[in-house]
Amino acid sequence: MLFTSSSSEKEILSIISKQLLLGSTDARHPFRFVNLCTLDGNQPDSRYVVLREFKEDLALFFYTDSRSEKVAQINKNPNAALLFYHPIERCQVKIGGKAQIITNTELIKEHWNNVQTEAKKGYQSVLAPKTAVSQPEEGWVQELKYQSKNFSIIKVRAKQIECLQLDDEGHLRIGFNKKQEVWQSTWLVP
Ligand SMILES: Cc1cc2nc3c(=O)[nH]c(=O)nc-3n(C[C@H](O)[C@H](O)[C@H](O)COP(=O)(O)O)c2cc1C
Repeated sequence: MLFTSSSSEKEILSIISKQLLLGSTDARHPFRFVNLCTLDGNQPDSRYVVLREFKEDLALFFYTDSRSEKVAQINKNPNAALLFYHPIERCQVKIGGKAQIITNTELIKEHWNNVQTEAKKGYQSVLAPKTAVSQPEEGWVQELKYQSKNFSIIKVRAKQIECLQLDDEGHLRIGFNKKQEVWQSTWLVP
């Protein structure tokens, strides 16, 4: 269990933050992969992404191809939701917030320099992701030189967090809401 009924609300936020930090640094942590949900008009659209960085102010960072659907969706509507699950601790964490595509070129360069050579391949397809092709191989054609032009960073700033701790003694559910930069919390009926 990540928290119990005797954990304080402040402790829970700190525990969850620590787990998210671990997810961003430890490739084997269950919070490494997260379901990122965005809106395509009024239709929810979700996919798994890798948590690349977590900051203390509850900002989460992801890498993607700038030509992907999610980038266009976020540019149209920044509302986003993230869903994590820790199967060993039996804890679900739901985060709601505003997503943005980072435009700071220095920051993009800094992150790009940290991307391993093999992973840089992921941003080199000649055709944009989701382009219809007649054979799968057509989608594998890559630029010869690794370039960062299709590399984008998504930042999600958490505004709501909800944690569900499964427990045979009684499940625990707690909600956090950020109001004027201050987190307020309440226990909820699971
Ligand atoms: C385990 C896993 C991890 C993934 N990590 C990423 C990622 O970090 N960034 C990314 O853009 N896509 C990642 N993908 C692919 C996305 O789930 C998705 O298929 C792709 O980004 C296209 O999404 P979109 O068309 O909705 O924008 C991952 C997929 C899986 C299964």
